[in-house]
Amino acid sequence: MSLRERSATDAVLEARARYVAAGVSTPPLVVARAEGARIEDVDGREYVDFAGGLGCQNAGHGLPAAVAAIHEQVDRYLHQCFMVGMYEPYVELCRRLAELSPCRSGEQKSVLVNSGAEAVENAVKIARAATGRPAVVVFDRAFHGRTLLTMTMTSKVTYKRGFGPFAPEVYRAPAPYPYRGVTTDDAIDGLETLFRSEIDPEAVACVVLEPVQGEGGFIPMPRDFPPRLRALCGRHGIVYVDDEIQSGVGRTGPVWAIEHFGVEPDLLVSGKSLGGGLPLAAVTGPAEIVDAVAPGGLGGTFGGNPAACAAALAVLDEVVTEPFQRRARELGDRIGAALEGIAGRVEAVGEVRGLGPMQALELVEDRATKAPAGALAAATTAAARERGLLLLSCGLHGNVVRILVPLVISDDDLERGLELLEESLVAAAA
Ligand SMILES: Cc1ncc(COP(=O)(O)O)c(C=O)c1O
Repeated sequence: MSLRERSATDAVLEARARYVAAGVSTPPLVVARAEGARIEDVDGREYVDFAGGLGCQNAGHGLPAAVAAIHEQVDRYLHQCFMVGMYEPYVELCRRLAELSPCRSGEQKSVLVNSGAEAVENAVKIARAATGRPAVVVFDRAFHGRTLLTMTMTSKVTYKRGFGPFAPEVYRAPAPYPYRGVTTDDAIDGLETLFRSEIDPEAVACVVLEPVQGEGGFIPMPRDFPPRLRALCGRHGIVYVDDEIQSGVGRTGPVWAIEHFGVEPDLLVSGKSLGGGLPLAAVTGPAEIVDAVAPGGLGGTFGGNPAACAAALAVLDEVVTEPFQRRARELGDRIGAALEGIAGRVEAVGEVRGLGPMQALELVEDRATKAPAGALAAATTAAARERGLLLLSCGLHGNVVRILVPLVISDDDLERGLELLEESLVAAAA
């Protein structure tokens, strides 16, 4: 046993082990403060942050305008419950989301909730009410949350083991995955087969698709898949739900990733970075669909908390600006080029992929067999943490190293982070 002094981190780790549920998986990192794309732990160690609080800090930790808006709101009033006493930040945020909505035309409306999973649940409720149909279609490798319905919609056994029975009327279709040979044609064929074999398309309320699959492995949909899915939904009167909880709010450059595809979904679900670090998510779409739910059918005690709405208004003001989007594009180019460089030097990289600055490395045992190298990705993120870089993995096999860096990172920190990434990968592969 080491005789070194017990660190502040050790003390929290011990208490964590004693008092916090084991089912929440945690790294050995205890945060003391964070700013921009940097984190400091309780022992004073600094980290370059390529994780962004799991994609919730696109505009940076402590975006000054969001922090100021939160302070101002905290001094005026906190929770009211929108169903008890309305307040302006909620209405103003819905107005702002309407302005920015990528959804098909019609007056846009929103409902605000606390988490991404709750937003997806509400999108399904709205789609069911609007269509009078029960079924929900999701895709291979989808992640939509951890509640009963969204866990059912999610495609990873780690998140489902022991938690059945699952929600009924959820059907899964193949999603394109070009690196592993699944094309848009294959995915559309798969969906059409599902519509012949398992579920009548006329009984489908909605399909839910992430334009860039997040937890499933940072897989951007091929350019022609969302438009073909949109056309198919149109033919069958199915609501197209665009899950932008991870890919939205500037993560890929434009406010919404679906803007890359020239597609107008029916409903948009947003969350994560929307609240600038406070819990907030939304469902947005045309009144014709959203207002299919009668008064009383939507809501919740805390949904659209005033401080979270105030923060979101500041975040959206930031991510719509040309300088923010230009920087995001620039970061996308730099990160993409750096990862390609790493792929040229490190045999374990099977593919570099992404959309804008939402980029990843898929790690494999062997480039020919493409056998997923999950243990290597885990060793890489651990090695990175030891060196002062926070990195996350993702993918069904946990073999994808993803970058969710706050898009306010400095050039120096970005370079340092990318160097540490390569160093960590090389060390883990040795
Ligand atoms: C695409 C997507 N949808 C839904 C969710 C669920 O969001 P939350 O964890 O806020 O419930 C996530 C979370 O990672 C996500 O990435």
